[in-house]
Amino acid sequence: MPDEVSRTFCEARMGSTKRRIVGQPGQSAFCYEVTPMGAKFATPSPQPNESHVPDKSRIAKTWQQYYDDRGHGLWGFSPSPTARTLAEALLNGNRRRSERVEIVDWGCGYGRDSLYFVELGFDVIGIDVSTKAIALARAAYKQRQKSGVPLVGSASFHAGNMRSVFRSRAGQKVCAFFSNRVLHLLSETDFRQATREAIRNLDQDAYFCVSARSPDDFNPAVMEWMPGKEAKLAKYKDSARDGHEIAFVTKERLLGAVGHNLRDTSFLSTTEPERVGSQDTHLLVMLGRT
Ligand SMILES: C[S@@+](CC[C@H](N)C(=O)[O-])C[C@H]1O[C@@H](n2cnc3c(N)ncnc32)[C@H](O)[C@@H]1O
Repeated sequence: MPDEVSRTFCEARMGSTKRRIVGQPGQSAFCYEVTPMGAKFATPSPQPNESHVPDKSRIAKTWQQYYDDRGHGLWGFSPSPTARTLAEALLNGNRRRSERVEIVDWGCGYGRDSLYFVELGFDVIGIDVSTKAIALARAAYKQRQKSGVPLVGSASFHAGNMRSVFRSRAGQKVCAFFSNRVLHLLSETDFRQATREAIRNLDQDAYFCVSARSPDDFNPAVMEWMPGKEAKLAKYKDSARDGHEIAFVTKERLLGAVGHNLRDTSFLSTTEPERVGSQDTHLLVMLGRT
């Protein structure tokens, strides 16, 4: 496993547990904006032109291939700006000293953010549709356990869908739902179902922190709009990237999906390279509480 890149460490105390923060949470140039809460959950219903949107099996196949080809080299092990945002919120929140904090990392990939949370002392449930990603995440976690650096938190990684993982836990709720760069991959129906399912399984006063590619990310040099879905759904011009459509995520879409079920909702704009060494993508991050 490659070493994490350019880490700065600082110590933070949360009750009796001494936590090590990798990097300074929130150090990226975010723009914060507090937004009023939106409408209540709308019932997900099939959308017109849904056939344009990649289905789950195509998404899984695309990602399986990326992980087969590049493994841990896709993004390295630096935590994402979205993970730093959630970490900062959790560490600054008024949680009890001894309380275990369980985070679901949905679409965890090979676990770069999950492992960051574990290092901070949180317990992570990583879920991804790609079996290869989950195998890589488990291997990276094992390696980290063997490294000799004591880990305060713990992790378990599951290949499959969110609902089956929650069902297997017999009604236990979690303190945070986290997802970095997954929601733009989904159809509108799946997007709404996923956000609903997530919120349904959050404890009281829990955090909801997600990011996805925003419309600022549309690059006409390499992308084109899907006919009839202009300004919403794009695909890459390069046929080698077929099956990797982008359903850009806006504040309105997020608020329409989570509605009044969250409070203290804020949005941040940030950027992150699409892969190690490639150009930045523009992300919209949403943070809220139940
Ligand atoms: C851009 S990658 C991000 C990985 C990770 N969150 C990170 O930032 O390092 C998107 C991930 O979402 C996963 N994914 C896509 N659709 C999913 C679904 N319906 N359920 C679970 N994972 C999904 C893919 O397999 C892939 O690992």
